[in-house]
Amino acid sequence: MKNRWKIQLEITECPFYAIGDYRVFELGRCGRVVRISIGDNAVRRRIRGQESARIEAKELEFTAAHLTIMLNYPAAQRNTAPILEALLQHVSRTATGVALEVSSGSGQHVAALARQYPSLQWQPTELESRLLDSIGQHTAGLPNVRPARLLDAAGDWATQLPDMEAHSLSLVVNINMVHIAPWRCALGLMAGAGRLLRSGALLITYGPYAKDGLLTPQSNVEFDAHLRAKNAEFGVRDIRELEKAAAPHGLRLHAEIDMPANNKTLVWKKD
Ligand SMILES: C[S@@+](CC[C@H](N)C(=O)[O-])C[C@H]1O[C@@H](n2cnc3c(N)ncnc32)[C@H](O)[C@@H]1O
Repeated sequence: MKNRWKIQLEITECPFYAIGDYRVFELGRCGRVVRISIGDNAVRRRIRGQESARIEAKELEFTAAHLTIMLNYPAAQRNTAPILEALLQHVSRTATGVALEVSSGSGQHVAALARQYPSLQWQPTELESRLLDSIGQHTAGLPNVRPARLLDAAGDWATQLPDMEAHSLSLVVNINMVHIAPWRCALGLMAGAGRLLRSGALLITYGPYAKDGLLTPQSNVEFDAHLRAKNAEFGVRDIRELEKAAAPHGLRLHAEIDMPANNKTLVWKKD
């Protein structure tokens, strides 16, 4: 589109980066720099306080119809390489078939995953329609990434993804969702992945986890409290509870990989 603006939001630290209206929340609570390029003229604005951030947010909302927003989450920037490395321990670089990402967020992960696994056809999905644009921006030009589509992990996947047949997928990936979403989303993820994965295929989940009722270290305890204060339905999940949720859908915990910043990659295998 001729007059389409490209906006790149650079967001520094923000544990809630996809909650609420990102234009308000990210800029208001977490934003530091907004870089706006209109044609060749780059305008850089520094946001210092809450008030100026709100003004900026309104401005963005006002012009939203003209914008293409490409989000870059610093957390995704940090964890992408370790996640790719962990994945290589369990998924061959030459894997084929269709891989589904649940809660693709900005699209940074699926773009990196698609580059690492060029023989897999990647299907990014998101709950939030406003993120589809960003996913499209990150994956533009990658021949093995399908257009992002909507998926509510807590809903009925058969209705939402009617073209995906049971036992047809080679891989399902879900990064940093189960603790920042109600428990029913974890249940939906297990049910959906269990139905769609072929026998022997993997579901990969990444995030902070408790185990046997124990959450460590203190920073994860504080993060959990922070999440629950924000939304009583959120919270760091216990691996044992996830195992109970996974078992009825033929998914067993196959491997648990310690990751930087007290996170884990969990590898679930379909019977
Ligand atoms: C913390 S962000 C993580 C995004 C991305 N995976 C990443 O790691 O950068 C959590 C994501 O979960 C998504 N989400 C929340 N509830 C969901 C649901 N019911 N179904 C699918 N995605 C959901 C949000 O829209 C958001 O993009």
